[in-house]
Amino acid sequence: MLVQLKSEKDIEKLRHANLIVSDVLDICQDMAKPGVTTWDMEVAARKYLDKVGAKSAFLNYAPSYDLDPYPAVLCTSRNERVVHGIPSEDEVLEEGDILSVDFGAFYKGFCGDSARTYEIGKVSDAAHTLSEVTKKSLEKAIEQMIPGNRLGDVSNAVQTWVESQGFSVIRDFVGHGIGRSMHEPPQVPNYGPKGRGMILKPGLVLAIEPMVTEGSWQVEVLDDGWTVVTRDRKLAAHFEHSVAVTEKGPIVLSRR
Ligand code: MF3
Ligand code: CO
Repeated sequence: MLVQLKSEKDIEKLRHANLIVSDVLDICQDMAKPGVTTWDMEVAARKYLDKVGAKSAFLNYAPSYDLDPYPAVLCTSRNERVVHGIPSEDEVLEEGDILSVDFGAFYKGFCGDSARTYEIGKVSDAAHTLSEVTKKSLEKAIEQMIPGNRLGDVSNAVQTWVESQGFSVIRDFVGHGIGRSMHEPPQVPNYGPKGRGMILKPGLVLAIEPMVTEGSWQVEVLDDGWTVVTRDRKLAAHFEHSVAVTEKGPIVLSRR
């Protein structure tokens, strides 16, 4: 499959799907306090999907036959968990945790995808800095989403900023094109040289998702088949936005 550029009409629809995603992440953000379980967030997200008539992009997602389908509408990845953590009634948020919540939804045929890392109560300076650096790396990537730039400029903006702050970028998972499917070409790594890769054109829509760690970028997958953790069990943070390249500059579809 080739990279598909979206029309203005398509981008309008992608905007709708992404605003639903943003609303759910707002709801989860309000809930992100000590004593709340990640399953409480899952329930709230499902309720909102029903209310607006949207469909989860994650529930039952099965990228390959040898993997169990994903069992939830949210990915909730706490502390050393990088991505794809599964919400659980047994997982009670504690003061000092950092929690990435990732959510995707289909609405009127188009997909929205976004993630944020929340601080639970007061967190350590190290955890706060990691989260802020990751958030800023996404903003630096978004700035590169202008016609005539190359994909490598987006990737390199993340890597350069993150490594300048003494942190590492995950290699094994990447961002992606997004449209009528959640995952479309191209892949969007968070590392690599600038000036390389495809030339960005108006209508390109990417889900950019830096995953950043305190220690090494090596990861492993837990026995549930999904949860990605750092091998050294140091902290990880994750932010994601769906972003359109337009003649007038980048549009962050998943931000109100
Ligand atoms: N934002 C993630 C991604 O783009 C979420 C996928 S979770 C899954 O890949 F369960 F759907 F796999
Ligand atoms: Co994504």
